[in-house]
Amino acid sequence: MSPALKLRFYDMEPETSSLYDDVMNGLSLAQKSIPPKHFYDESGSILFDAICETDEYYPTRTEMSILEQNLKEITTLLQNDCVLIEPGSGSSQKVRVLLDSFEPHTYMPLDISSDYLQNIAYGLAKEYPNLHVTAACVDFTSPLELPYYPENKRRVVFFPGSSIGNFEPKKAINFLVNMASLAQKKGGLLIGVDLKKEQAILNAAYNDSKGVTAAFNLNVLQHINQRLEANFDLNAFKHNAFYNPKLGRVEMHLISKQDQQILISDQHFTLKQGESIHTENSYKYTIDEFQFLAKQAGFTPIKVWTDPQQLFSIHYMTFG
Ligand code: AVI
Repeated sequence: MSPALKLRFYDMEPETSSLYDDVMNGLSLAQKSIPPKHFYDESGSILFDAICETDEYYPTRTEMSILEQNLKEITTLLQNDCVLIEPGSGSSQKVRVLLDSFEPHTYMPLDISSDYLQNIAYGLAKEYPNLHVTAACVDFTSPLELPYYPENKRRVVFFPGSSIGNFEPKKAINFLVNMASLAQKKGGLLIGVDLKKEQAILNAAYNDSKGVTAAFNLNVLQHINQRLEANFDLNAFKHNAFYNPKLGRVEMHLISKQDQQILISDQHFTLKQGESIHTENSYKYTIDEFQFLAKQAGFTPIKVWTDPQQLFSIHYMTFG
């Protein structure tokens, strides 16, 4: 007989901001835009995984190698018996490297996609029978109270992938304030942050030669077509991504190849030839810039690890 799984699942039924509202508002602005969170329908999530496998998109494999190279030091700082909380845990792939080399009391994956989260949590609880797995379906981008914590355990937030770069810097500080309230006094934060670097490397990473990033960017239009009965012609747009050195961010846009009219749930939007829909920003930080940001949320930098080429950084910080 298999021992009982140490698994809990809480569905906080988060209100997902509506695709309809976001698209209608975004396309009514002078600079048309669609928030990047709408990239991640099922095809978008598959395309994102494919981006991570491209030769040019270095962040995923570089972060993984930094974790692997410094595992002992990292897990010593995290400390056994802690509660490890991962907002936006997705497939919980990177955390396995940590779980294989130290013994947190509880792992708390937080994600917005309830069914997917339940499957992942179940798989982890089976794979790591000594680990308590407490999954919560929540919108981790808004302030959150989690339903349950084991008492008197130190809490550490794990936020890999440089997803922090997809927030505007002010919103990144707000997000880190929320993370500080999850970690609480004496808690920690282990966070992956993509570094500023030669522009050619950044431009290549978001313009891979196989066109996977282009397909990912265009897929948001397909997503809107399916969900909102819109009539975007994907062939009438082209992917455009570039590093904006003034703002320290990679910008992704979809450029209209012609003058055109789009119908979305019986509302018309016009686009001129060459006009863009702004779909994503991915901010890059120096180590000092990121530490400055995190200090404003109350964190104290403890240690930073990078790769030999200084492409990516992983920061460990404590709160309170
Ligand atoms: C999820 N996020 C950190 C990715 C990034 O690099 O900003 C999303 C992405 N967009 C294009 N390629 C990858």
